[in-house]
Amino acid sequence: MKNYIVQWGWFVSLLFIFARCSSSANKDIIVAPSELIYSVNQLTIEEGQKASSIAPLLKGTPPFTFSVSNNPATSQIVIDNQGIISVLENITAGTYAVSVTASNSTNRATFPSVFTVNVKKKILPPSALAYTPNQLTLDFGAVGNSTAPSIQGTAPFTFGMTANPQTDKISINNQGVIAVATGLETGTYKISVSAKNDAGNVSFNDTFSVVVKPSPPSNLTYSPNTVEINAGTAVTSSLPSIQGTLPITYTMTTSPVTDKISIGNNGTISVASTLTAGTYNVNVTAKNEASTITFNNVFSVTVKSTNTPASPPSSLSYSPKILTIEQGKAGSSAAPTISGTSPFTFAIGSNNTANGQISINATTGVVSAGANTPTGTYMLTITAGNSAGMATFMGALTVVVNAPVVAVSFAKDIQPFLQVCGGCHSYNQYAAAKANIDNMLNRVQRAQGSGGFMPQGGSPLSKTQIDLLKKWVDDGLKE
Ligand code: HEC
Repeated sequence: MKNYIVQWGWFVSLLFIFARCSSSANKDIIVAPSELIYSVNQLTIEEGQKASSIAPLLKGTPPFTFSVSNNPATSQIVIDNQGIISVLENITAGTYAVSVTASNSTNRATFPSVFTVNVKKKILPPSALAYTPNQLTLDFGAVGNSTAPSIQGTAPFTFGMTANPQTDKISINNQGVIAVATGLETGTYKISVSAKNDAGNVSFNDTFSVVVKPSPPSNLTYSPNTVEINAGTAVTSSLPSIQGTLPITYTMTTSPVTDKISIGNNGTISVASTLTAGTYNVNVTAKNEASTITFNNVFSVTVKSTNTPASPPSSLSYSPKILTIEQGKAGSSAAPTISGTSPFTFAIGSNNTANGQISINATTGVVSAGANTPTGTYMLTITAGNSAGMATFMGALTVVVNAPVVAVSFAKDIQPFLQVCGGCHSYNQYAAAKANIDNMLNRVQRAQGSGGFMPQGGSPLSKTQIDLLKKWVDDGLKE
């Protein structure tokens, strides 16, 4: 066994010697460059940066020299003698396919597009935002917008804004144009604009201003725009409507001049009760921060004198003209209508007031009949008086008092005249008559001498008796 190990060791030594002899035998053979490999074969940077690859692996006999060519061509990509590719800081954005040529003493080999350089555009943050002009001046109610601003940095930008004082009537669009919607309140608005891109969000404070000018008072209107009153009466107009920027203050003058008409803070016009008769035109002046405007003859007041003579009572009328009541129940008329100067006093001028059961309200003219008024018809004469005199109205109202209505009963109203049937029927008894009344009414209303006429062989019942039978039914067949 030991012998074999010795033999193996010798054999290995021989092999080693042979290998060395064969390598020294090939010492002058130069192998051409081949298989250039960058284990990371691309670089991505931003404009203005610089960077280098790692050294590549390359087969062949060193030493090597390297050169690069680029597509697109640039002097900003260089290679050193280790094959390390460097990108210099002045390279412009783009994608560069780098071909590397490796040479040794005998050969050269070109490895096309073996490396890629990506240079991304440098994104500059927004700066130097400016509007020309940097102010928008509008009348109240008008709309408008700024020009697009100038700005530096890398587009695209997105714009935002805030207004001071705050409002939702001002907005900004994608181009940075600031727009004002209608209805923006009077005032000065400082606008701060923010511009944003991938490099950052920059705010430009108070870079623009919007000025909304106040609007002068206009369209002052009173509804109604005239009043007519009697002397001795005070009155106040309605609240006027007006347009223009608030606050508005009011003053007024009148034609003819009087100090009995005045105007309040809210524009209402007040007329004192001491204003003498006549027609007064009112001119109102409305003032705000924009302007002072006078509205001539915007309101007028007419005061009528009141010394017209009183007129006597006339045309007294009750509706309805008849008051009908049932004895035992009280009742009242409606109030009458009457012409002339009020107030009036009323009285009953008739002799017959049913012992005072019929009376009149002296102030309203309403006539009342008491429950104990005897049955009958009372034609009343009414007198009415005022400051101008007195008038009598004959038969102005009729009071009719009817007898109380009493129900028909069998024993009292029916039984006496049904005795005529009693010889042949029991219809003169309550129970039988109640049970057969329909049939009885049928028979007693047949013509005398015709078939089935009752009372058989007798003379017909009178109309009053037949009506009583019918009313007995209507009143509920009382015993
Ligand atoms: C003299 C006898 C006599 C007198 C009085 C008489 N009736 Fe009759 N009544 C008869 C006779 C008989 C009949 C049956 C024959 C007929 O139906 O006509 C009759 C039939 C009737 C019937 C029909 C009965 C049924 O069951 O259908 C009625 C209802 C009637 N009479 C009502 C009266 C009334 C109401 C009176 C009184 C106002 C009266 N009669 C008086 C003899 C009389």
